[in-house]
Amino acid sequence: MMAKEFGKEMAVGVIGAGAMGSGIAEVAATYGHRVVLFDTQQASIDKGLAGIEKNLARNVEKSRITDAVRREIRTRISPVVGDSAEGGLGALADCGLVIEAIVENLNIKRSLFATLEEIVEPDAVLATNTSSLSVTAIGSACKRPGRVLGVHFFNPPTLLRLVEIVPGLATDGAITDRVQSLIDAWGKSTVRASDTPGFIVNRIARPFYGEALRIYEEGIADMPTIDWAMRDLGGFKMGPFELMDFIGNDINLAATKSVYEATFYDSRFKPTLTQQQLSDAGFLGQKTGRGYYDYSSGAVRPEPTKNEDLGDLIFRRILSMLINQAADALYYRVASAQDIDRAMTLGVNYPKGLLAWADEVGIDETVKWLTALQEFYGEERYRPSPLLKTMAGDGFTFFG
Ligand SMILES: NC(=O)c1ccc[n+]([C@@H]2O[C@H](COP(=O)([O-])OP(=O)(O)OC[C@H]3O[C@@H](n4cnc5c(N)ncnc54)[C@H](O)[C@@H]3O)[C@@H](O)[C@H]2O)c1
Repeated sequence: MMAKEFGKEMAVGVIGAGAMGSGIAEVAATYGHRVVLFDTQQASIDKGLAGIEKNLARNVEKSRITDAVRREIRTRISPVVGDSAEGGLGALADCGLVIEAIVENLNIKRSLFATLEEIVEPDAVLATNTSSLSVTAIGSACKRPGRVLGVHFFNPPTLLRLVEIVPGLATDGAITDRVQSLIDAWGKSTVRASDTPGFIVNRIARPFYGEALRIYEEGIADMPTIDWAMRDLGGFKMGPFELMDFIGNDINLAATKSVYEATFYDSRFKPTLTQQQLSDAGFLGQKTGRGYYDYSSGAVRPEPTKNEDLGDLIFRRILSMLINQAADALYYRVASAQDIDRAMTLGVNYPKGLLAWADEVGIDETVKWLTALQEFYGEERYRPSPLLKTMAGDGFTFFG
């Protein structure tokens, strides 16, 4: 199937004007497309447009664009409020590419795609920004699943360069290539991921949170100490608990549960009681004023125990688990080694790509750590990736 030419003259539709949709609309309009921004709620459109206007004004202030360019970009975005189930989507009829960024619910997304494909031209491409659902399952709601793919932006889409391009099982390869080139032309840095739970970033990053929670639950160290170790010894911008509080415990727990369930309960991704309880209590992090830490005014953050040996143990245990995930993602062909490392540095700001890090700390050393953990705990969770075991035996590195 031929896809429409992806020139600037092509109109782009964005469905859902929330945090992601409004940012994606701004990115597409900044590149030069006419954008139809659709939502079922007037309040979402108002908030989304206000966010876009604020960003554009800031870009003028910082002399990144002129005021005339700001006006041009803003005029290219046409907001539409309607009922997505009852023909309200008609405004998207001439869009060559439609990116869906609505609520993360498989049935609602499937029904939207089935309605949408009757409205757009036969050669229009339909993309989903889902973080955790199967692109294949969304596409299978369509008569032409060949033109459905995942285009996974990170939050906020205007600032974060990474976009995971995710073809489903039935997606046309030529369409995937052309969408990837287009998103690159928008100024993004794309990686190709297979349609597997969590794609690249949300899969590989899980132990950063999960293993930190395990270490805490076992009483090996408290939260400030674990955060200190990962920040000051590991070089991460934020520690796991600070980051979970920033992301929101509910969001982080939902991502963990979704990958855990979608991998048929692989114990490497097992959620923890601590996070479930915090979420149940409404201690969701910065947004509720309390999470792992207290954000009320005057609250004093407990001091970490700055013991280098303890810090190193924490850092090496979490890093080994992260490297194990990255190696397994490569082993199971989720993505290439280059794309895995680029995804983790651009998507979650890791100080180094995990596979390059494995080369640096030593693959045999990483396997030793994992094997020791597996022997001690007797848990599958710590099994080393077959790829790491093979490489360690043969003295290979990921990047020569
Ligand atoms: N927030 C993130 O960090 C993030 C990152 C990457 C991907 N995503 C994914 O992007 C999607 C959107 O996330 P978000 O954070 O922007 O959500 P959000 O809640 O901020 O916005 C969703 C918007 O969709 C609208 N909507 C809901 N159902 C609709 C329908 N049937 N038709 C049209 N509009 C509808 C809502 O009114 C709302 O404005 C989800 O699939 C999410 O998993 C989110």
